[in-house]
Amino acid sequence: MSMEQDNGYYLRKMRDGDIPQVLEIDLEAFPTQWPHPTLNSFRHEMRNRLAHYIVVYRNNTERRYIPPPGSTAWSRAISRIRYLFNHDRFFGPASNLDRYKLVGMAGIWMMVDEAHIVTIGVRKAERNHGLGEWMLIYIIDMAIQLGAKIVTLEVRVSNTVAQQLYAKYGFTIVGTRRKYYSDNGEDAYIMSTEALMSDEYQARFQRMKYEHRQRWKHCCEIN
Ligand SMILES: CC(C)(COP(=O)(O)OP(=O)(O)OC[C@H]1O[C@@H](n2cnc3c(N)ncnc32)[C@H](O)[C@@H]1OP(=O)(O)O)[C@@H](O)C(=O)NCCC(=O)NCCS
Repeated sequence: MSMEQDNGYYLRKMRDGDIPQVLEIDLEAFPTQWPHPTLNSFRHEMRNRLAHYIVVYRNNTERRYIPPPGSTAWSRAISRIRYLFNHDRFFGPASNLDRYKLVGMAGIWMMVDEAHIVTIGVRKAERNHGLGEWMLIYIIDMAIQLGAKIVTLEVRVSNTVAQQLYAKYGFTIVGTRRKYYSDNGEDAYIMSTEALMSDEYQARFQRMKYEHRQRWKHCCEIN
């Protein structure tokens, strides 16, 4: 399939070269959060054996040059030269910036037998196309494969959009963390699934997965 015809979305594990675009998505998804992750903190996070991150992307037909956020003038010049000379073709990808347009990212931490969703975000222009839900489905499946018994997360009490997504997948509010967010002192709800392997949860989860696949045909490519 040529790049021009390829309008599909794909999902795969996050790679180091994704980090600059992941930081862009993070800024868009959590504009008030402080501190924001940096290139280095995310690189470090990628080496964390408890952490598992995924991205949703589409093949980039724009092929624009995007300087990595937080880069120095020197590293920007090197990236630009690599880009101009299509370094990737000869030496492997310097970054994925010009090849993939990342549109969403999500991650979990495995805490013994509990998977904790640490982040999930979709670029503003790509929301309401089933991508957030697709990532949630994938990370619940991943959590099951990694041996998690439940999935938990924290969500701002004001974030009703995300709460509705989680509720759809059987998350309920099981507690509150007072003044959890340092930017505005907002409380967080702790939301959690029931036992992932219970018959009730599996029946609901499989039904939701099926309905999602039927509704969003573009969401079925996993690399
Ligand atoms: C939350 C977020 C990831 C959802 O991603 P998305 O791709 O837009 O969501 P989807 O299109 O997959 O929608 C799935 C479900 O989410 C809920 N949802 C999505 N947009 C919604 C909206 N505007 N209002 C209410 N519910 C909404 C619905 O339950 C929806 O299911 P439905 O279509 O059957 O009603 C996205 O809004 C986002 O990145 N927000 C900013 C970051 C964030 O808040 N992350 C969560 C931190 S805890």
